[in-house]
Amino acid sequence: MSTSSTFLGPRRLLIGLALACSALAGAALSASLGGTQAAAKLELGRALFYDPYLSADGAVSCASCHQQSKAFTDGGAVSTGAFGRTGQRSAPSLVNVAARSKLFWHGGSPSLELQALGPLTDHNEMALTPEQIVSKLRQHPTYPARFQAAFGREPDLTSLTAALATFERSLVSYNAPFDRYSAGEASAMSAAAVRGMDLFYDKAECFHCHNGKNLSDNLPHNNASELFNEDLGAAQLTGRDEDVGKFITPTLRNIGLTAPYMHAGSMSTLREVVEHYNAGGQPNPNADPLVRPLGLSEAEISDLVAFLQALDDPTVATNPAFGPPK
Ligand code: HEC
Ligand code: HEC
Repeated sequence: MSTSSTFLGPRRLLIGLALACSALAGAALSASLGGTQAAAKLELGRALFYDPYLSADGAVSCASCHQQSKAFTDGGAVSTGAFGRTGQRSAPSLVNVAARSKLFWHGGSPSLELQALGPLTDHNEMALTPEQIVSKLRQHPTYPARFQAAFGREPDLTSLTAALATFERSLVSYNAPFDRYSAGEASAMSAAAVRGMDLFYDKAECFHCHNGKNLSDNLPHNNASELFNEDLGAAQLTGRDEDVGKFITPTLRNIGLTAPYMHAGSMSTLREVVEHYNAGGQPNPNADPLVRPLGLSEAEISDLVAFLQALDDPTVATNPAFGPPK
């Protein structure tokens, strides 16, 4: 979602509150049904995720910017939505997104249900109004019957966001060499990757922010990737100077598939990222003190890159369960 639309002007705030109520009801709806209805919800969510029908120009689906082959990113520094409009941030991976407690780079969305209304209504993404979304769904030849089967109700924002969130929560995958190594398979990672892992969890200080199963603490930090904080980041929500340029630590899973890197795609390769940290980042008043010169040798930089590559899950790009409907 573009930065402009996340600024909450008074009108946006009212619309936002109305949408939030329906999306919170959606969270309850996602959880409340089981059995064959659960399968119907999942398949409906998959169809909607891959369907460009829900965009103002009929050309953009969630999957345009969240592509399976790229671990559900789009390969661009920033994303391109309806009518070729560009946003200001890079599309994050959706693999294991259910484990993220704060969504968006600035962390401003607490649930997948609420989040989904962002791209659907963002001028630079799918560019529909809430009214257009509901009327389009109700006019569709097959969706109304599918919503009845899945939720026992007509398509509305609550059932739409519940279906999308159900599909997103199914994007769970932990089959990287790192997982097999952690489970005791010593040959799953190369010697270089093992040395890189030791650096990651010690001398290179990465683990302070990139920790847990998805290598993210889900907290906002400024990693000194910009000399001037062009994007307010978490300060968009708090209004505080010290939060300018802070972003929720991204997951590092499947990082080999998700270039370019950082919130606006400012770095192209993993080597460039590691060299950035090794240099201590750029001078920035809000830089986290853990981002400081690391003194890694060229060989250690290569080892750290090898470890990052061992976080790529080779099944993500090909798993038919994550792909479009048959
Ligand atoms: C035009 C490209 C585009 C489209 C279309 C799009 N997204 Fe995104 N998505 C993005 C960008 C860019 C961000 C990051 C925005 C930000 O943080 O400000 C994002 C963020 C997200 C996030 C937050 C992930 C995280 O870890 O914080 C989720 C979840 C998500 N999108 C799901 C969806 C769903 C569901 C749809 C379809 C309804 C969709 N997206 C459509 C580009 C897109
Ligand atoms: C102080 C917390 C912190 C530390 C320490 C840290 N990171 Fe990060 N990392 C972040 C944040 C925050 C971002 C996103 C910044 C942005 O988008 O501007 C990030 C982004 C990244 C990215 C790009 C992810 C993407 O999807 O674009 C990679 C790769 C990365 N870090 C690797 C590392 C490595 C390797 C280390 C150790 C050398 C490290 N990080 C240390 C907080 C940290």
